[in-house]
Amino acid sequence: MNTYDIILKKRNGEVLEKDEIIYMVNGFTDGEIPDYQMAAFLMAVYFKGMNHEETTELTMAMADSGDRLDLSGIKGIKVDKHSTGGVGDKTSLIVGPILASLGVPVAKMSGRGLGHTGGTIDKLEGIPGFQTGIPEKDFIKQVNEIGLAIVGQTANLAPADKKIYALRDVTATVDNISLIAASIMSKKLAAGADAIVLDVKVGTGAFMKKLEDARTLAKTMVAIGTLAGKDTIAVLTDMNEPLGNQIGNILEVEEAAECLKGHGEHRLMEVSKTLSAYMLLAAKKADSYVSAMDMVEESISSGKAFEKMKEFVSAQGGEAAYLEEPSRFEKAKLTKTITGRDLFLAKPETADWKRAYLTGCNNQEIGMTSLILGGGRLTKDSKIDLTVGIYLYKHLGDEIQDDDKVAVLYGNDKEKLIEAEKRFARAYTLSQENHFSGQVVYEVITKENLDN
Ligand code: URA
Repeated sequence: MNTYDIILKKRNGEVLEKDEIIYMVNGFTDGEIPDYQMAAFLMAVYFKGMNHEETTELTMAMADSGDRLDLSGIKGIKVDKHSTGGVGDKTSLIVGPILASLGVPVAKMSGRGLGHTGGTIDKLEGIPGFQTGIPEKDFIKQVNEIGLAIVGQTANLAPADKKIYALRDVTATVDNISLIAASIMSKKLAAGADAIVLDVKVGTGAFMKKLEDARTLAKTMVAIGTLAGKDTIAVLTDMNEPLGNQIGNILEVEEAAECLKGHGEHRLMEVSKTLSAYMLLAAKKADSYVSAMDMVEESISSGKAFEKMKEFVSAQGGEAAYLEEPSRFEKAKLTKTITGRDLFLAKPETADWKRAYLTGCNNQEIGMTSLILGGGRLTKDSKIDLTVGIYLYKHLGDEIQDDDKVAVLYGNDKEKLIEAEKRFARAYTLSQENHFSGQVVYEVITKENLDN
């Protein structure tokens, strides 16, 4: 077997054998296959695709490329959650405490943000003192004691994914269904949970822009999880605008805390509660979706979920008092208010408008606005500013008038703020008629409806 022949075979659209896929994954992870050959292979996969069997073999080879986390020391059914990535998506910070407050152990290894999407670990580092790098045995102990721990990836989990993802990121081969499914599921299988709930984002801020592609990705991942013996379900949720009101690392921690105090923005709450309810069902803590949802509502309204969030933050060395009093969080020094007028003036065809509806949003551009302000990474080594971001006062479907406040941008650099303002204002589509559906949760994919 040699690398050239495997690249050629895929380039010609042929189906690869299991041992050829393992050869590519192991050879690249060990450094025997150079970047240029793996890049060519990934581009061939991007254009010619992989069938179901090939995608499953790729996932398994990547999951077996390093250690598998042993969560057997944690009592109960362990349920993991994963989002395919979005803008303002802080659901892990909301769902984790809800589940833990209801007796479901959550042992989560999370990632950092890349490109226009954010990452849970960066957000948590916005809490003074919070440690994201705790040793594995302390991680397990904490989950047994308080039901929740969220750490950065410490163990050598799916190293093949780490290397392949870094190469995909710079060779325009990220948004391919087989490669995304294998990347996510290899990490989830290596992370050791018994059940997996996937939040597959769809829309202008997601990797999958179209519902049918998101559905195919969801079905691919559910099939792989099921084959690996994990109870796996996927929820397709909207990413055509940011989730919630706040985007940026510290701003998102603040918003997650407000949600658990019962003051959450309705779309963010709908996604968080839906994911929580499916996780409760997967953990066999509820016998119907309705009773699972009741339990989730009660955990928030009683204050138990917020108490759990504080307990979790303290256990990892963070100052939980900040969650009680978000005004204590460090803020960026400069702000810029964006009004309806700024949005009208951003495009010649709306320059003389006085009122309109927000009917569309290039959400990737909103993510890029946050990145330009300093809140995101263009490469994995970029340093980020945890204090910057965006506060949204209007959402799709809202009417805006000339002097309405649409958003406030937070930054620490005047020039970046000017660039961000331009980018933000141009990201929206305005109309005189409101034609916005408002749907947030589109579909649920389970192993029972894979063939539909
Ligand atoms: N998230 C991942 O972990 N991998 C991908 O390929 C895309 C999103």
